[in-house]
Amino acid sequence: MNELIIVKPDDMHLHLREGAILKYACKDTAKQFGRAIVMPNLKVPITTVNLAEKYYQDIKKVISNSNFEPLMTLFFSGSLNNDEIKKVSDSKVVHGIKLYPSGVTTNSDNGIDTIEKCFNIFELMQEHEVPLLIHGESNDKAVDIFDREKVFIDKHLSEINSEFPDLRIVFEHISTKDAVDFVVGTNNKICATITPQHLLLDRNDLLSDGIKPHHYCLPILKRSEDRLAIIEAAVSGSQKFFLGTDSAPHFRHQKESSCGCAGIYSAAYAMELYTSIFESENALDKLENFSSKFGADFYKLPYSKSKIKLIKKEFRIPAKITIENEEIIPLFAGETLSWQLSEI
Ligand code: DOR
Ligand code: ZN
Repeated sequence: MNELIIVKPDDMHLHLREGAILKYACKDTAKQFGRAIVMPNLKVPITTVNLAEKYYQDIKKVISNSNFEPLMTLFFSGSLNNDEIKKVSDSKVVHGIKLYPSGVTTNSDNGIDTIEKCFNIFELMQEHEVPLLIHGESNDKAVDIFDREKVFIDKHLSEINSEFPDLRIVFEHISTKDAVDFVVGTNNKICATITPQHLLLDRNDLLSDGIKPHHYCLPILKRSEDRLAIIEAAVSGSQKFFLGTDSAPHFRHQKESSCGCAGIYSAAYAMELYTSIFESENALDKLENFSSKFGADFYKLPYSKSKIKLIKKEFRIPAKITIENEEIIPLFAGETLSWQLSEI
């Protein structure tokens, strides 16, 4: 196969940030995706529908020459009440509420400390059919960083699912075989997003032969067995697994630091990356559902009417992306892939 035309994909997990970088992050994503679920972890988190509508307008303004549609989310806070959740449910702009255990990742200090105290809010979300998006890692610093996803499943996620069986949940950026097995074994209300880095890399790529700060993300990369289980899930054809890049720009100096930031930038070449992975698994026929349909089905959105074309042609990811006076090192910088996005 030398050419692939598929329904324009959706990135169901994306960080666009704010300020000067917003325009560049939006432009890179809009070339690849028609819509994206936009994360709310700004410095001042997006905790209300009013703030989300304002952020939506900011995004639309910097990308006014494109049909790109940002799908907004709220940052889960303990003060969510019935009125606000009803507002989310009625909103055309906001599509879910993202829960971060406090301190678990970038800009999550205002997250949740005690998940059990949120059960009344989950109840309301279930009632109003508002999806719950979860960064599923324990924030207990005593738990080994490689076990934090598994501990979150065992201590919290299974209970949330059994207490609220109709609550639609996205288990974001799964990083372990435990997470794959959990999602496969639950009812059809729990789906998971899969990033390119968790398909392409394991912890050796982060820590062996020199530390690689540009491979540092959260959840942290795990063992090779975990990566293989995630690949299997992605190409399985199960509608429980769909595309979410978790593309999260940090400038080079913030990552190449004695205390480097977590986050990998993949937005600009995401479809080339996913297509190359699906090809090497002999699963190109599964790419369109994973990228363009299963996520839309979960969020009850129509499929895009646009298409994208990928052609089989060697393509080298640039060594860096320059943004004003700063640099971002994209995922797989300098590597050659076998597929390239092309004009349709
Ligand atoms: O690596 C990550 N970076 N994981 C997250 O959960 C957040 C993200 C960011 O915002 O930089
Ligand atoms: Zn994220």
